[in-house]
Amino acid sequence: MHSEEHPAENAKASEPGDVMDKLVALCKRRGFIFPSSEIYGGINSCWDYGPLGVELKNNIKAWWWRSMTWLRDDIEGIDAAILMHPRVWEASGHVAGFTDPLVDCRLCKQRFRADQVAEASCPRKPSVAPGAPGCPGELTEPRLFNLMFQTYIGPVQDDSARIYLRPETAQGIYVNFHNVLLPSRQKVPFGIAQIGKAFRNEISPGNFIFRSREFEQMEMQFFVKPDTAAQWFEHWKEARFAWYLGLGIRREHLRFHPHSPQELAHYARAAFDIEYRYPFGWRELEGIHNRGDFDLTQHQQFSGKDMSYFDEASRERYIPYIIETSAGVDRTLLTCLIDAYDEQPERVVLHLSPKIAPIKVAIFPLVKRDGMPEIAQRIATMLRPHYKVFYDESGSIGRRYRRQDEIGTPYGITVDSETLTNETVTLRDRDSMTQERVGIDHLLERLRALLG
Ligand code: GAP
Repeated sequence: MHSEEHPAENAKASEPGDVMDKLVALCKRRGFIFPSSEIYGGINSCWDYGPLGVELKNNIKAWWWRSMTWLRDDIEGIDAAILMHPRVWEASGHVAGFTDPLVDCRLCKQRFRADQVAEASCPRKPSVAPGAPGCPGELTEPRLFNLMFQTYIGPVQDDSARIYLRPETAQGIYVNFHNVLLPSRQKVPFGIAQIGKAFRNEISPGNFIFRSREFEQMEMQFFVKPDTAAQWFEHWKEARFAWYLGLGIRREHLRFHPHSPQELAHYARAAFDIEYRYPFGWRELEGIHNRGDFDLTQHQQFSGKDMSYFDEASRERYIPYIIETSAGVDRTLLTCLIDAYDEQPERVVLHLSPKIAPIKVAIFPLVKRDGMPEIAQRIATMLRPHYKVFYDESGSIGRRYRRQDEIGTPYGITVDSETLTNETVTLRDRDSMTQERVGIDHLLERLRALLG
C-alpha cells in the first residue's frame, strides 16, 4: 500500500459562494473549460472545452444517448442541420415571440432585461440598481429584443436570404416527423432524440457555462395519442429525474418546479422543470413539456404538408401530442461538476460518476526505475482500447493520486516492488482511498466489474 502525503494547501473549507470561483479556476487549470478566444480577451459567454472537458461532455452525451435510444426500442435518433428554412421559426413562434423585454440606459448605454433590472447594478454606481434612486442614468421604456442570431445564406445579404442559427434543436425533430416515422416503422407512441448546438443571444448570460450564447441541448420529442399525453408526461418526468440520480446527482439537490399558467411557454399545456440547487440558487436544469399538438399543427399550416398520423389500431387520424424532454449538455456538465466537488482537509476530489469521468484509470510506476515504468506502460497499452487511461510517472505517488482525485479519475493503478515478484498491482479507489491488490492478468476483468 502506498501512503499519501497530506499537504495543508487545500485545508480551508469553502463557502458556498466561492465554490463557483474555485470550479472555474479548476476547470481552467486542469483543462476542462476555457473562455473562448481568450488570447483576444475572450468573447462574452462563449466557452471552449479542453482535453478533459470534451471527454466529460462526450461521456454525458453518450450516457443520455444510450438511455434514450439504446435502452429503448421506441426512440430513434437524428442529427438535423443547425440552419433551417426561415419559415420554421415563423411556424414555431420564435420570430414573433422569442423575445426578452429590454431597457437601455441613456447615460451609460448599457442594456438590461426589464424583468431583471432590480437585480442588475448600475455600471456608474454599482451599489444601486439601474433606474433606482441614486442611479445617475435614465432608462428607456422596455422594448422587445429577439434572441435568435441572424445570418444570411448565399452570396446576397438581403432580407430574402436571412436565416437563423437554431435557438433549440426541437424544430429539427418536428419537421422530420414523417421522415423518421416511415423508414423506422415506428408507431405512435414513439420518440425522436437529438443532441446538438443551439444559439441564443441571451441578454444576461452568466454563471460560467450555466447560461451561454452557444450551447448544446439533448432533446427528445415523444409523439403520443392525445388522450394518453398526461400519462406520458408523468412517465417522462419520473424517467428524467431518475436519469440525474443515476448520474450520481444528490437527490436533495434536485426538485421539480411546476410552471404556473403565467410561466407556461406559448406552446406548452403543462410544464415542469427539474431544478438543481446551484451555489447561486435553485435554477432550471431541464424542462419537461406537454406541447400538445401545437408544433405539428403549426408546421402543417406553414408548410402546407400533412403532419397527421393514421393510427391503425384505433383507425383514427390525428395530430399527435408531443411530450418534450429538453436538457442542456453544458448545464448538466456544470451540475455534475458542482455536485461532485468536495474539498477535504487533504485534497480536492471530484466524486464524478465513473460513467462520465473523463479519465477512468490512471497508471503509475511507484518509482522511475527497476523496470516499473515499462510494466506500467504495458498495463496502459493493455487497457487503452477499453478505457480512457492516463499514464503518469512524475512526482511523488501521493501528489499523483491527488492530481487524479481533483479531476475525478475513479481508479489508480500502481506498479510497485511487489509487482516485480508476483505480477500484482495496487488498485486505488478515488472516494474511499482504499487499495486492493490485483493480478495484472485480472485487471481488465476487475475494472469491468467496477466500471462496466
Ligand atoms: N425546446 C424547448 C427548450 O429549448 P428551454 O427551457 O428554453 O426549452 C431547455 O431550454 C434547456 O436548454 C434548459 O433547461 C437548459 O438546460 C438549456 N439551456 C437553455 N438556454 C440555455 C443557455 N443560454 N445556456 C445554456 N443552456 C441553456
